[in-house]
Amino acid sequence: MCGCCDGFWDKVKDWLICLAIVIGLIIVTGVVLIIVIFGGPLRHVKISVEDASLTRFALVTTPTTALAYNLTLALTVRNPNWAIGIKHNKPLEAAYSFDGQPFERVQVADKGEKLGPRKTVVYHLASSSEGRGVALGNAGEAEFRKENATGVFQVEVAVTGKFKYTLRKTKCKIEATCPLKLQLAAPGAASVVFQKVDCELAKSDDKYC
Ligand SMILES: *[C@@H]1O[C@H](CO)[C@@H](O)[C@H](O)[C@H]1NC(C)=O
Ligand SMILES: *[C@@H]1O[C@H](CO)[C@@H](O)[C@H](O)[C@H]1NC(C)=O
Repeated sequence: MCGCCDGFWDKVKDWLICLAIVIGLIIVTGVVLIIVIFGGPLRHVKISVEDASLTRFALVTTPTTALAYNLTLALTVRNPNWAIGIKHNKPLEAAYSFDGQPFERVQVADKGEKLGPRKTVVYHLASSSEGRGVALGNAGEAEFRKENATGVFQVEVAVTGKFKYTLRKTKCKIEATCPLKLQLAAPGAASVVFQKVDCELAKSDDKYC
């Protein structure tokens, strides 16, 4: 392609054409790569509960219905994209509820926090209360007694937030629910084995998320 030959200036001309072609190819390849990496399909973040422990879960009925609890969670957030990072636009929060009634909200990640491509971050969340008011009602109290008799409590963790992908404008919602079955264990007692729970993410109605 880049033949040699005749005069010196012909050689220079050939060489310049070659150079132009090579630079052109590099630019085209670069643009295509950027489009593929940043404009290609995205994979949503993955959220799971790796570990959880419940050392106290008691119903307080006076003066009002409340729950006294000590609950710790190891919540992981994973960004499966291999080149695209995410940045939280709103604080990432976890809300705990029993029998559909929220009794605790925990901030997981702050606004502005970033999660690089292929990165996983583990958040260790510990909450306790001597009595946090909760609108269980009669039905909820009955459910509590029922589960209390088995020693296993069903607590749902709902994770909510908003984030943006690198170089994208759209703000994407995170709405995940993690149904947990927690065996009540005395502190210091032989630790209860917890099976990792993958949280279910709500499908986004925005095709850019
Ligand atoms: C619960 O947490 C409180 C304060 O963090 C601590 O004083 C108490 O011993 C804990 N109780 C249980 C049963 O883990
Ligand atoms: C829950 O169970 C414990 C013992 O397993 C018992 O001491 C406690 O009174 C029960 N609480 C309620 C509200 O039934």
